[in-house]
Amino acid sequence: MAAKRRFQTVKGMHDLGGWMSLAFAFVEGKAREVFSLYGYDEVRTPIVEETELFVRGVGEGSEIVGKQMYTFDDKKGRSLTLRPEGTAPIARAYLQNDWPSSGPQPVKVFYMGPYFRYERPQEGRYRQFHQIGAELIGDPGPYSDVELLVMLLRFLEELGFEDLEVGLNSVGDPECRRRYSQRLREFLEPYRDELGADSRRRLETNPLRILDTKAPRERELLEGAPRLRDELGDPARDHFQVVCDELDRFGVDFEIDDGLVRGLDYYTRTVFEITSTALGAQNAILGGGRYDGLIAELGGPSVPGIGFAIGQDRLVDLVLKIPGARKRLNAEDHRRRPVCVIPIGGSYRRHGLVLAQELRAAGIPAICEFDSLRPLKARLKQAARYDCRWVVLFGEDEEKSGEVVLRDFSDRTQETIPRDGFAAAVAAKIRPDEQP
Ligand code: HAM
Repeated sequence: MAAKRRFQTVKGMHDLGGWMSLAFAFVEGKAREVFSLYGYDEVRTPIVEETELFVRGVGEGSEIVGKQMYTFDDKKGRSLTLRPEGTAPIARAYLQNDWPSSGPQPVKVFYMGPYFRYERPQEGRYRQFHQIGAELIGDPGPYSDVELLVMLLRFLEELGFEDLEVGLNSVGDPECRRRYSQRLREFLEPYRDELGADSRRRLETNPLRILDTKAPRERELLEGAPRLRDELGDPARDHFQVVCDELDRFGVDFEIDDGLVRGLDYYTRTVFEITSTALGAQNAILGGGRYDGLIAELGGPSVPGIGFAIGQDRLVDLVLKIPGARKRLNAEDHRRRPVCVIPIGGSYRRHGLVLAQELRAAGIPAICEFDSLRPLKARLKQAARYDCRWVVLFGEDEEKSGEVVLRDFSDRTQETIPRDGFAAAVAAKIRPDEQP
């Protein structure tokens, strides 16, 4: 008989456990804490949206819509897509739920969850990945850009990052971009034969995207290219100037990066990315910017917006590389199990259950080791594997004497304490600072 096939995760998708899930929860907690300080509320939108939302929102010419979407028809033949990003869904939710009339303006929201792109998987690039993002919708002014960036940097600082590279640029208004695209096209046309296939295609469809090419010859050519920044109209130029000046004033260390154009079509004016060389080729931890035309593109009024999304998987990879990170995570791990209760003898298993319940009622996380058929040594090993520091032993002798044995793995000592009120005594040992 053929062996039954074992299943694997879908290519580019991963189970998250151990340190990874601890670190995921840690960064999510910090995001909630920091973003709330700035008046942002959490929202959750569905994983699946109408395909058309991304085609119109992110743009037909973008790599994401052109090549990377998980799109399928449902049973009624409606074209649906697993969300590849979070901004278009938030803009949809803003319009659908009429957020401006039901709450304050500008609208400030944050979100976190899984996103899907059919990309070639490699280190730091997955087909199911996770983002933590924030959007501020309804204020056109540069001070919102500054505040959003300051909030983002505060979040990263709280995670323990010190020197990250902040790249900033302005992609201007649509009119500046049209003008600039034409100039760039004229500049690159004579070198057409030296461009790769992708860039030749982009020369027709969206020459701006050539600016973030990685091909060495193309990078060389671009050194002499006209700069988008020089084509900005006055309003976009003034806006960018205020953003740069204010960031300077806040002591934010950033670089203006003329090649930073972002891969989604909705961007206007301020755009930014934060990179880390520790991530190798896939080095963008996050990206964001203004999208003043997106809400109108989705059939709404002309309402500006700005936001960012952090690649949570990449962020967590980096967090775990910060010296002392694991220790810090352990200290903040609310799922830590300090105590293992080991009932001795089969008939004491229900006592074990009761003792563990008493500990939990006193706020002490506890597990119970029920496998009374195994030798005590193996059961103690099991407790160590759970990372428990204390073991509570209870069997016939203890029942007779009205006590429990409390063993401390950290210094290999043990003592007996009265059975009645034992949970309070254990709590006092585990959390001496928190006792009344
Ligand atoms: P994005 O640059 O496409 O922007 O994605 C943001 C971040 O998500 C990237 O910097 C990267 O860290 C992470 N990321 C993207 N694709 C993958 C992948 N396949 N595997 C792992 N990580 C990935 C957006 O999505 C915009 N919605 C950001 C935004 C919000 N702009 C304004 N508001």
